Order: sequence, then structure tokens, then C-alpha cells
Amino acid sequence: MEESAIKVTAICGSLRKASIHHGLIRSAIDLSVPGMSIEYVDISSLPMLNTDLEIDDEFPPKVEAFRQKILQSDCFLFASPEYNYTVTAPQKNAIDWASRLPNVWADKAAAVVSAGGSFGGGLSQYSLRQSGVYLDLHFINKPEFYLNAFEDPAKFDDDGNLIDDEAKERLRSVLLALKAFTLRLRGPK
Ligand SMILES: Cc1cc2nc3c(=O)[nH]c(=O)nc-3n(C[C@H](O)[C@H](O)[C@H](O)COP(=O)(O)O)c2cc1C
Repeated sequence: MEESAIKVTAICGSLRKASIHHGLIRSAIDLSVPGMSIEYVDISSLPMLNTDLEIDDEFPPKVEAFRQKILQSDCFLFASPEYNYTVTAPQKNAIDWASRLPNVWADKAAAVVSAGGSFGGGLSQYSLRQSGVYLDLHFINKPEFYLNAFEDPAKFDDDGNLIDDEAKERLRSVLLALKAFTLRLRGPK
């Protein structure tokens, strides 16, 4: 990793092995945008949020490790599937754990991408953006990335890998916008 590369934590809202959203994250990593280092962080082992698990002001170890990862990140890439017009339960769980005080999302940049049926998972994006208002998490507005995954030609292979070159270029544009916005938020050194 370059010394000054922006640290991007990528969060996938799907736990499926062949998740197309995890495929979007793998593709984002493969694009190797200069000046960005993208790390996928697995949220599957976080316990379901229950504030009774916070004992003597301490979080469970897996939650604490996740919160530290968020704290040390410069910005975030959410690959956010749409379940029943909103974000998935595992993703909301991860967001909520990191929102416990002190809210470690605060004042950072983020981008969201999704794939799915006709609107390409777009309603999950609006739901996530709404949470971002309370979390003080600043999403880039443009370019938007919704991908209709189920119309021909195929956009993903059977393992969930993105195989569509145009979509890869659109994903690169999202990453470049996230990088520019993160640097703007950081301000002059
Ligand atoms: C419980 C459940 C609810 C879903 N609700 C929606 C929905 O509201 N809108 C939609 O477009 N797709 C919906 N889907 C389809 C998923 O978004 C789609 O399968 C997507 O590929 C899942 O992403 P993944 O491959 O990363 O797991 C739903 C799927 C599940 C399992």
C-alpha cells in the first residue's frame, strides 16, 4: 500500500457465498485505483445488536475490532443489496454497532453501490443515505451506481463475479469520486 493511500473499508450487506454485492467489492479492489487501498471487512460474525452486551462500557471483542476498523478508515464503500425496499439486516446491524457512542462513522465520506431487480437495489441506497444523515456520514451524490443484474447480457458469473466491462468502468468512476470527496473532506494538510 502506498504511504498516503486513502483507506477504504468495504462493507457487503449480503452474507451469501456467491453474493453479487461481494462481487462488486472484489471488482472495486481489482480496479486498483491509484491512491486508494480498499479492504473488505466481513460483518457476518458480529452479534445481533443488544446493548446488554455492552458491559462496563466495553463492547464485545468482535464489535470492538469492527469499530476500530471503522475508526481507522478514511472512507467507506457499501455494497448494499435491497431486501424489502431497505438495507439488509446484517448491514443495519453493523451500522448500528458502529453508531454506538462515540459514533465512529462521523464526519467521514462514503459511497454506495447496489445491484438487483429493475431499480438495481436503489431503494436500499436511499434507506442507507437516510441513516447517513443521523450518522453524520457523508455520501457522494454522483455518480450513482445501480445495476440491473437480471437482464441480459449477464452482468455476473455464477460465483458473483462482475463480468460487465461497462459496469466496471462505472464502478471506477464511483471510486474516483469517493477519493476526490474524501480528500476534500480531509482538507489541506
Ligand atoms: C428477504 C429478501 C428480500 C428481498 N427484497 C428485495 C426488494 O425489495 N427489492 C429487490 O429489488 N430485490 C429484493 N430481493 C432480491 C435481492 O436484492 C437480490 O437477490 C440480490 O441479488 C441479493 O444480493 P446478493 O447476490 O449480494 O446476495 C430480496 C431478497 C431477499 C432474500
